[in-house]
Amino acid sequence: MTERPLRIALTKGRLEKDTVGLFEKIGYDCEALKNKGRKLILPVGGADMEVVLAKANDVITYVEHGVCDIGVVGKDTIMEMQGKFFEIADLGFGKCRFALAVKKGSAFYGGYSVKTIATKYPNITRNFFESKGMDVEIVKIEGSVELAPLLDLSDGIVDIVETGTTLKENGLEVIEEICPVSARLIVNMVSMKLRRAQIDEFTQKVRENIG
Ligand code: PRP
Repeated sequence: MTERPLRIALTKGRLEKDTVGLFEKIGYDCEALKNKGRKLILPVGGADMEVVLAKANDVITYVEHGVCDIGVVGKDTIMEMQGKFFEIADLGFGKCRFALAVKKGSAFYGGYSVKTIATKYPNITRNFFESKGMDVEIVKIEGSVELAPLLDLSDGIVDIVETGTTLKENGLEVIEEICPVSARLIVNMVSMKLRRAQIDEFTQKVRENIG
């Protein structure tokens, strides 16, 4: 049986450009990746490696199931989804932070009513408020979470903040930083054993070219 190429699941969107930049720095041929059109599986750096473009949550699913050996995904998604895989490197890009934000000037911690929090990250939100011993109601939102307090659906949001522009332009402000976030390299647990040499070679090159 011919062994399939080493397969890397790459989070499309925000992390894509920096990952391609890293691959180019390493010296991998990224032409197919840069001119991908609507293709989702692309060769990179020769015949023994390919990239799969996927949404962040799916990167984790593919790596956990072993259909991809390696993944590039944000720490935010890793924290939210958990899962069984090795997290082996901080890639140093895709830097942002988790924060609790509210409408500017609102007294979030005042009063006795149970507060409602909108978020794309219910598990992180639950853990954060549990660690404070605070009971909150969590509403899961799929995107542009900033809308929820503006529409009075929630008292606050837990979301990732990068430049802070989205909050600022919508009259919201951070009242508490939760933790920093950046892109990580993850590896399937079985691949780590069966393709050790190939993965070590790849990781070594990544480590030499980050930062
Ligand atoms: C993220 C996040 C904020 C925004 C923060 O959303 O949920 O809305 O980026 O970035 P900023 O601090 O630089 O303004 P994303 O763009 O990923 O879109 P989504 O909310 O539709 O998922």
